[in-house]
Amino acid sequence: MPCIVVVGGFFGDEGKGKVVSYLALKDRLDVTVRTGSVNAGHTIVFRGKTYGLRMIPSAFVYENCRLYIAPGANVNPAIFLEELRLTGTAGRAWIDSQASIIEPAHIERDRATGGRIGTTGQGVGPAQEDRVKRTAKLARDVPELAPYLADVAQEVNKALARGEKVALEGTQGTFLSLIHGTYPYVTSRDTTASAIASECGVGPKKVDEVLLVFKAFTTRVGAGPLEGELSREEAISRGWLEKATVTGRERRAAPFNFRLAERAVMLNSPTQLAITKLDVLFPECRGVRRFEELSQRGREFIREVEERLGVPVTIIGTGPDADEVVDRRLKK
Ligand code: GTP
Ligand code: IMP
Ligand code: MG
Repeated sequence: MPCIVVVGGFFGDEGKGKVVSYLALKDRLDVTVRTGSVNAGHTIVFRGKTYGLRMIPSAFVYENCRLYIAPGANVNPAIFLEELRLTGTAGRAWIDSQASIIEPAHIERDRATGGRIGTTGQGVGPAQEDRVKRTAKLARDVPELAPYLADVAQEVNKALARGEKVALEGTQGTFLSLIHGTYPYVTSRDTTASAIASECGVGPKKVDEVLLVFKAFTTRVGAGPLEGELSREEAISRGWLEKATVTGRERRAAPFNFRLAERAVMLNSPTQLAITKLDVLFPECRGVRRFEELSQRGREFIREVEERLGVPVTIIGTGPDADEVVDRRLKK
């Protein structure tokens, strides 16, 4: 802290939403900025309720946190307004006036043409195309969004100058990056840490921490290579089969991939790592909140990750709830 970037290390759905919601509550974040778009669903389990958020930042769970959507984001106004209502965050959620807009025609185009890549069909790629063509509508052009507009880059930089705690929330994962991922089976933006900061208007010298989030195994939804992919039956028998938050599609699964993880470390320069779903790999770790109370095989896995990647694992997910976490920063 004060400025932390939270970025996915594999193919998205690593649990960034859960990690950010934990940080918001624990560190009492003042500000968060969500990047990306509605193709990304962030799942937050808080006070017995499950939220699959596609626009509102995951830090909404901490009521004093101001919530922003980045100038580099693509906004679906109807989804934003619906989530604003669902989370009760009107009055503390804003969109940058330069964020671009997803229109119904983008969704139609995505559904007609996105099959080969297995896109989420949310119109994000076609909206990005229009942004690149410089024909896209921006948030400032949409009257219903007028009450929620802000200069997000300026607000965030002012908050940093005041020494406030800021988290920049990435979406998707490193290997879905348009630039660094498994092209053409990628999303339509760069998803890495530098791009997250850039999307928010935060210069690289202002980033203090990069938290790279891995799941204890690998998942991928949509087309594209997945090394070591398990059969559906094997994924079910290991308890690794997940359903996608946005599309409801089944996520393909494979073991933790050290080769990709090393490359994700190279591409994102993390200062710390989070490993989520340790409880799915090792069920006896469920709900544990102290490192010493993890099973021996659970601790060994975490130590192996640290040794092979050369970066400390500070946050360990032991269940879906925002507070089911081993937080190793607390020892310092
Ligand atoms: P994208 O931006 O779409 O990449 O999403 P994301 O990284 O926020 O992840 P998403 O919420 O889509 O998927 C993660 C899934 O794992 C959700 O169902 C979470 O509730 C769940 N989850 C996250 N951390 C843990 C954990 O430590 N244990 C368990 N059991 N579930 C977890
Ligand atoms: P698009 O981003 O909808 O164009 O989809 C392009 C590719 O990225 C497809 O393989 C999608 O399944 C994948 N993808 C996009 N967003 C997410 C996400 O949030 N989590 C996981 N995969 C995603
Ligand atoms: Mg997701």
